[in-house]
Amino acid sequence: MIDSADRTSRLPGFYDKSLRERAATIAEWAGLAAEQIAALDGTGGLSPDQADHMIENVVGTHALPLGVATNFLINGREVLVPMAIEEPSVVAGASFMAKLARDGGGFFAHTTEPQMIGQMQILDAADPASARLALLENKARILELANQIDPVIVKFGGGARDLEVRLISDSPIGPFLVAHLIYDTRDAMGANAVNTACESLAPIVEQITGGRVHLRILSNLADRRLARARCAIAPTSLAFGEFTGENVRDRIIEAWAFAAADPYRAATHNKGIMNGVDAVVIVTGNDWRAVEAGAHSYAARSGRYTSLSAWGRDANGNLVGSLEMPMAVGTVGGATKVHPTAQAALKLMGVTSARELAEIIVSVGLAQNLAALRALATEGIQRGHMTLHARQVAIAAGATGELIEVVAGRLVAEKVVRIDRAEEVLGELRLANQ
Ligand code: MEV
Repeated sequence: MIDSADRTSRLPGFYDKSLRERAATIAEWAGLAAEQIAALDGTGGLSPDQADHMIENVVGTHALPLGVATNFLINGREVLVPMAIEEPSVVAGASFMAKLARDGGGFFAHTTEPQMIGQMQILDAADPASARLALLENKARILELANQIDPVIVKFGGGARDLEVRLISDSPIGPFLVAHLIYDTRDAMGANAVNTACESLAPIVEQITGGRVHLRILSNLADRRLARARCAIAPTSLAFGEFTGENVRDRIIEAWAFAAADPYRAATHNKGIMNGVDAVVIVTGNDWRAVEAGAHSYAARSGRYTSLSAWGRDANGNLVGSLEMPMAVGTVGGATKVHPTAQAALKLMGVTSARELAEIIVSVGLAQNLAALRALATEGIQRGHMTLHARQVAIAAGATGELIEVVAGRLVAEKVVRIDRAEEVLGELRLANQ
């Protein structure tokens, strides 16, 4: 393992190495054990037997490409980021933007306390307004009871923190109450702990309100568990081709303004953020549907769906970006603990807590957003995409080994990245080599 003081996530030439060499590089970098390397390079990882204990009717496992994004400097720490994703350009885009951000100190990220919200829907209270106050009067008792339910989370410093009660007056079935149990889940994603607490509290809530507790379930709008990241990039780092740095900066800000103002664009803009976020959420065995639900509901919290990120310029003319979003991820429990690749991914990142993982993920989301905006606001997205996409098309057409690059190169040069053309080119090459 390379001494942490000498470690840098700048790994020039990593891209050009062979798959084996890349695995060996990261193994040495992070001091990975043989089974951890195997879990990342595809020769090991989740076995069908392990999978059989995770879900029902298992017949096997499903694989995704696993790449490693380089160049990340997050809160002063060098980080190599594993990403599981099928889409070309994502890992390269994140790595490139992380490189640009380094001169400005990289990414500065922080998180709120890992508090989740558990909801209890209280129906049939004779007087919902009085029932609401009765619940609030009994808050201390309810929280104390909640903390007896999961002594392990309490031992690790988590547990029930607060109780909020809302009166929903505008509903198709008339007014009802919703109690929110605010629960600190520490390093767990926490769905199980929160759901158990809500189910266990239902009888006392019914007793106090005289109502009927209907649904008892976690909310994925985890707006008490936020992750935030920011970065600053000097215009000199943004210049390329015929574009000056100032020009690129201003075009990126204009592109962001589109997403800030228009939900149709915001959906795609946020999808670009989630390209980075989900890839790390997935590789660490976390629930990406929960993170997706949190992201999009948070983006719509004002009543109008908008951009999760913001881009502008600071007093020195730097491009400055920030991203704030819910980040309900864990490092203990669930698939994170069982899945060997998730464990190896945490080890590669040197992550020791769920908050630290969330800080990395939100930084990758911001980098990914910048990569997309920079491309869209200048030469367009297709040019960069084209080469990688062409490789996939070449493979789909039956190209193997060196032929993949040759066929892909022809498709890009001709600007016709289609399977029928790839098959023709492949046929011509095979004929020529006979
Ligand atoms: C494609 O997966 C993601 C982008 O559409 C994001 C964006 O438009 O900002 C390029």
